[in-house]
Amino acid sequence: MNMSLTFEDYYENEVVLTFDDHPFSSDPKHVWVICRFLDQWLLTRHPRRGWEFPGGKVEDGETPEEAATREVEEETGAHVDSLRYVGQYKVLGKSGTIIKNVYYAVIDQIKVRHHYHETKGPVFINELPKTIKESNLYSFMMKDDVLTQCLKRINDIEF
Ligand code: GTP
Repeated sequence: MNMSLTFEDYYENEVVLTFDDHPFSSDPKHVWVICRFLDQWLLTRHPRRGWEFPGGKVEDGETPEEAATREVEEETGAHVDSLRYVGQYKVLGKSGTIIKNVYYAVIDQIKVRHHYHETKGPVFINELPKTIKESNLYSFMMKDDVLTQCLKRINDIEF
């Protein structure tokens, strides 16, 4: 069954999210990784956007899964033990459409570093607050239904 959810992001761009198997692109150029380390969520501190789950662009010659593992490592120092596809979304932005895969990663090791690529390193959260949308701490990427729906999906199907 093909199913998708449509809503607006923080900047009022249209977002279409689905848990189907890569319906928008078999070769998406962006990844986002919901990370779990023991009993905590693992986020990164983006210098401008704020706290968010790690992610970024797929580089030439890389698979989206390789990009997901690399981005987590670069942005948080964490090693991905297991990675599972959760869904895919597209954002119809003012300057074009981007397509992003969402993954759920279980982390088995964190290496503390002095410098992190493009971020200020890891953040560990026991419970994601209900007030993310109103909080200046969090990135806009954490403020639309992609996060809530993907967390629900992860919980529902017990990844
Ligand atoms: P970087 O600065 O290198 O990240 O590149 P960029 O500004 O070209 O950004 P990117 O190509 O990653 O994304 C282009 C636009 O799409 C951004 O300015 C955002 O508005 C939007 N966008 C990117 N990722 C997301 C996302 O995960 N969720 C939502 N809602 N919008 C996103």
